Amino acid sequence: MDEIFDYIKKAVLSISNELKFPDTSYNQSQNKTGDTQLKFDVISDEIITNTLSKCPNIKALISEEKDESLILNEEATYIVAYDPLDGSSLMDVNFAIGSIFAIYEKKAQAKCLKAAIYSIYGPRLELVICKDCVNLYRLNKENEFIFVKKLIMQEKGKINATGGTQKNWDEKHAKFIKGLFDDGYRLRYSGAMVSDMHQILCKGGGLFSYPATKNSVNGKLRAFFEVFPFAYITEKAGGKTSNGLNESLLDLEFDNIHATTPCFFGSKYEINALLKAYNER
Ligand code: AHG
Ligand code: MN
Ligand code: MN
Repeated sequence: MDEIFDYIKKAVLSISNELKFPDTSYNQSQNKTGDTQLKFDVISDEIITNTLSKCPNIKALISEEKDESLILNEEATYIVAYDPLDGSSLMDVNFAIGSIFAIYEKKAQAKCLKAAIYSIYGPRLELVICKDCVNLYRLNKENEFIFVKKLIMQEKGKINATGGTQKNWDEKHAKFIKGLFDDGYRLRYSGAMVSDMHQILCKGGGLFSYPATKNSVNGKLRAFFEVFPFAYITEKAGGKTSNGLNESLLDLEFDNIHATTPCFFGSKYEINALLKAYNER
């Protein structure tokens, strides 16, 4: 698996270099979940496909920007699902964005997740690699990723990152979110899941939510390359996840590689509060 990490490091370094002078315009095309693709969504996807295709240990690639999985080597063990550019709608405003990777063994299902990785293209290039614990790395002047620290979620945080358009929230969700603000939580939401989750992980806690809404009853965020990798990372950091009903997002199973689900990632305190608010009569 370490070999796959090395190929991912090469891919994110190339994307980070390309991002210095990017084409921020849109293509005419849409991806499977209906987002209009930026030229850079497609470029990042190509960089990752071309780089990871050279790794002999990868059986298949699943990308947000490809309708179908791409089989590389039937004999190999690992399936890599990825969001090549997360937060791409923030390209034009020069906010931090990232790439997300999930490494599944044999089958693309949450139970088969063996590692999750994300990169942050911000003022610095950072990489978080999670196998058994959550390790933060930072690129140095020699283009090497240097270990910075282990990321750990405390029992309770202070940040409330609230996804979805408020007018489309249901009453239960609106009441729960307001309750956290009344309790002293601060709003922190950029619109790039990688950055919003990175802030919560680096500050040691808080809640990131993207609920079911009136216009998206299954939520917006995609299970295989957004929700599962961040659920894996959150839980390995000592936090908890849920879809509003269950005790872990990693209990979910989907057949459609572009499936979406309502999702909540946080410290144990916030997820327990969510489960109480969502499930009390
Ligand atoms: P992507 O750029 O890969 O399409 O993902 C965007 C996602 C996620 O990063 C973010 O949390 C969410 O969409 C933001 O959606 P809203 O603008 O609806 O809050
Ligand atoms: Mn995304
Ligand atoms: Mn994307």
